[in-house]
Amino acid sequence: MTKNFINLASARRTIYALGKNLKISKAEIETIIKDAVKFAPSAFNNQTVRAVLLFDKRHDELWDIVIDCLGAKIADEDAKEKFLSKIGAFQAAYGTILYFTDSSVVKQFEQQFPPYAVNFRDWSEQAQGNANYAVWLALHENGIGASLQHYNPVIDDAVRKAYTIPEHWILRAQMPFGSIEAGAGDKTFIADSERFMVLS
Ligand SMILES: Cc1cc2nc3c(=O)[nH]c(=O)nc-3n(C[C@H](O)[C@H](O)[C@H](O)COP(=O)(O)O)c2cc1C
Repeated sequence: MTKNFINLASARRTIYALGKNLKISKAEIETIIKDAVKFAPSAFNNQTVRAVLLFDKRHDELWDIVIDCLGAKIADEDAKEKFLSKIGAFQAAYGTILYFTDSSVVKQFEQQFPPYAVNFRDWSEQAQGNANYAVWLALHENGIGASLQHYNPVIDDAVRKAYTIPEHWILRAQMPFGSIEAGAGDKTFIADSERFMVLS
């Protein structure tokens, strides 16, 4: 039994200390991300996930948007400083992937398959999870760290305007990625007995 996938899956972690020290080219990163999203499964193969890849100034712009949208709401000076330092760490990364769901495709499938209509929204979220995880693993396999952030829906309008995002694309997640400047801490796991039932 080969354990290549399990080794990769167990090594992938949330990396907050990200930098710009990558040896891999922008074009190669683009291919990795596009392939990982493209080959991730979706219900009825309806391919509802959309991704916007932000590099350089467009990446910086995203984290400035987060500061503009959320920073003003933080009155406490200490909390604001912590927030700015956290966002600064995301901005220090090499790039960011914005993940969207194409709601027009979700609607189209709801209308086309009435018996399953109640499921398509959940399934689009599951497709997001599949795509997010596939990219996260593929980046890790190439020595690139990442984390998964959710500043939506607070930043949705500003993001739509800044990057001319179609109205029917709904922002679901933001994934900053870059060189791994510090590893992740220990991670705990619930007992197998709580998680699994094996029956025969
Ligand atoms: C659906 C989902 C949402 C998450 N949202 C956030 C988030 O908004 N901010 C964040 O820092 N981490 C977020 N995470 C990362 C988790 O906290 C992290 O994956 C978990 O603690 C396990 O750690 P690991 O990724 O190092 O294995 C999210 C993860 C998932 C799967």
